[in-house]
Amino acid sequence: MPKTVFHTATTINGFLATDDDSLQWLFDVPTAGLEQGDLTQFMPGVGAIVMGSTTYNWVVDFENLMEHPEKWQPFYGDRPTWVFTSREQRQVPGANLRFTSGDVSEAWAQILASANGGDVWVMGGGELVGQFIDAGLLDEIRLSIAPATLVSGRPLLPRELGTNDLVLTSARQVGAFAELIYEVRR
Ligand SMILES: NC(=O)c1ccc[n+]([C@@H]2O[C@H](COP(=O)([O-])OP(=O)(O)OC[C@H]3O[C@@H](n4cnc5c(N)ncnc54)[C@H](OP(=O)(O)O)[C@@H]3O)[C@@H](O)[C@H]2O)c1
Repeated sequence: MPKTVFHTATTINGFLATDDDSLQWLFDVPTAGLEQGDLTQFMPGVGAIVMGSTTYNWVVDFENLMEHPEKWQPFYGDRPTWVFTSREQRQVPGANLRFTSGDVSEAWAQILASANGGDVWVMGGGELVGQFIDAGLLDEIRLSIAPATLVSGRPLLPRELGTNDLVLTSARQVGAFAELIYEVRR
């Protein structure tokens, strides 16, 4: 069965990025051993990707995709990539982008169909993932925890979930990262 998965790197203390959207804390971590990491195994099964507009714009700017749109394909491929936004956004030429807004439940049937039997990767940010949890649509949380902390930043998941909601199904070390996988009880 395809799953809807929040897969992300995070600091130990639950931040996805600094307040000004820097991921330098993540890029500073040695990459040795990451070819054995969860993302390498997870990505081939992903049929569609979902992200919020902050994440989308970060990717567009970081990779300079408006000038180098060919840099989209190696990672995202032709997967439908859904961007939640209430504003008009830049369209990376050639990328299979779908801009949408509002209640995630209303977009859900189209997102799932676009995944064509594959998993749906909800990349973040945390509030958008929270909207999927609120709607009972998230199956799994897969975390790569970097050896880093931040004083403040973009939150991993601003929701209250407890032991009745989350079941630890895997824990392992991959290079400098701790990888944890939780099933989300719907
Ligand atoms: N560590 C990692 O691996 C990792 C993973 C993912 C993201 N990140 C980073 O973490 C940060 C996340 O930023 P963020 O927390 O601001 O989250 P985000 O989810 O990327 O973007 C939030 C924005 O998305 C739009 N949005 C969200 N839900 C919507 C809805 N239902 N309808 C319409 N629009 C909606 C809103 O903007 P508008 O409506 O104004 O467009 C909202 O301000 C970014 O810096 C990103 O690069 C890191």
